[in-house]
Amino acid sequence: MNSSVSKLLGASLFVMAAAPLGAVADGAADYKTACFACHDTGVAGAPKLGDTENWAPRIEQGVDTLYKHAIEGYQGKAGYMPPKGGSTLSDEAIKGVVDYMVAQSQ
Ligand code: HEC
Repeated sequence: MNSSVSKLLGASLFVMAAAPLGAVADGAADYKTACFACHDTGVAGAPKLGDTENWAPRIEQGVDTLYKHAIEGYQGKAGYMPPKGGSTLSDEAIKGVVDYMVAQSQ
């Protein structure tokens, strides 16, 4: 195999490996770009990823409310959640991240 072909093959294998495998993997990647700054550390009252106690009453509201709050933004008792976390992600991508956050936090 000549070297440019093998480089190309290597590059496309890399892209395939990095490509999201489904909604959960997708959400995890978007979480790391748009949401982790607040939700990993709990900055400004953000519920931490994996903090089941903090998330339980939020999850009880139903996932549609969580989607709405994540997409449109929301002023809660703990702090202010900016619309889409200040990102330019699509509504569908935000829903994927919310699904990921809920799955990690219950
Ligand atoms: C600038 C900090 C910040 C960023 C960035 C951020 N959030 Fe938040 N988020 C908050 C805060 C603060 C709250 C808690 C508000 C409250 O309940 O008082 C919150 C709450 C939430 C909730 C719970 C809403 C509810 O009804 O209880 C969800 C879901 C959420 N964020 C999703 C996301 C997603 C998805 C992203 C990334 C696209 C994101 N957040 C990025 C600060 C942030």
